[in-house]
Amino acid sequence: MTLRSRIIGIGSFLPEHISTNDDMAKIVDTSDEWIVERTGIRVRHFADENMSSSVMATKAAQQALANAGLTGDDLDLIVLATVSPDKTFPATAVYVQAALGMKRGCAFDVVAACSGFLYALRMADNMIRLGQVKTALVVGVETLSKITDFKDRNTCVLFGDGAGCVVLRAEEGKGTPADRGVLDTLIYSDGSYAPDLCSTGGPSTNHEVGYITMNGREVFRHAAVNMAEVSQEILDKNGVALADVDWLVPHQANIRILEATAKRLGIPMEKVISTVDLHANTSAASIPLALAEGVKSGKLKEGQLLLLPGMGAGFTWGASLIRL
Ligand code: UT7
Repeated sequence: MTLRSRIIGIGSFLPEHISTNDDMAKIVDTSDEWIVERTGIRVRHFADENMSSSVMATKAAQQALANAGLTGDDLDLIVLATVSPDKTFPATAVYVQAALGMKRGCAFDVVAACSGFLYALRMADNMIRLGQVKTALVVGVETLSKITDFKDRNTCVLFGDGAGCVVLRAEEGKGTPADRGVLDTLIYSDGSYAPDLCSTGGPSTNHEVGYITMNGREVFRHAAVNMAEVSQEILDKNGVALADVDWLVPHQANIRILEATAKRLGIPMEKVISTVDLHANTSAASIPLALAEGVKSGKLKEGQLLLLPGMGAGFTWGASLIRL
């Protein structure tokens, strides 16, 4: 027998304000045509001044807990992935913990940018497998609009805000790919690429929060390769054939990256959940948001096998194999 982390609740939150490509063209020298053709993005949601990452994460968490029939007090653990925390410290996760009325267990953040949800999932799944916790909340949340330079057309059209999360519960499995829950998660990083996608600021470097800066072409070049390779690796490691995967639920940065990943892997676009047109790139929130949308739309169903690859700043990358 093996302890598995089964997803028993999914939640998401998108701030009300929607910015179209035409809205962006009023701020920088760009066009709807360029953005759609190069990225597939049509709109993005932006948080208002008073909406922090913990506020959005709490709203998504409340939905996921209601979905699971639980309250905050039932949680043993919160792992929250973000690069846009409420404050430099403490962790955004502890604000969510307090807002949910969770008085026990522990809550902490992980920073792995667009792969953040996969890193957080891996941490929570490890703790569940070790029997250290029974019920965990894994959150990906970003208010990227607050660290975006709205004078830089190379980046400002690409990002959006949002939150997505899952509630995991320990359950006995047989240790085979037929089990429901997180079957496996692989995570990697290569810090030599840190300058290609990073913030221009930080407390211990220049005392600033900074803005997103990116060498888009270099990130693009690695994204599809890394996501396809780690996807194949996790399938091989778990003895699962590509044909057995019902849905690819990748990090949503650019429709061309999704298409290139699917092509390299050999999976048709009909089996890919794509939300990049409506959410833009929400970094750590993008995979759980896509998961939530997939379930809401009725595409993702209980018992199906999902493959979740991601890649982002660090560079970090990884993939998770989950049976819903
Ligand atoms: O989640 C991980 C993080 N990020 C990503 O995965 C993003 C990865 N990168 C990308 O998605 C793409 O590289 C971009 C969408 C950022 C750029 O697309 P591209 O096809 O690689 O364009 P490019 O960088 O080759 O730029 C083409 C041209 C440039 O003009 P010149 O130098 O050819 O005259 C840019 O200045 O497009 C120009 N450009 C724009 N034009 C209109 C850049 N941004 C814009 C814009 N509107 N917003």
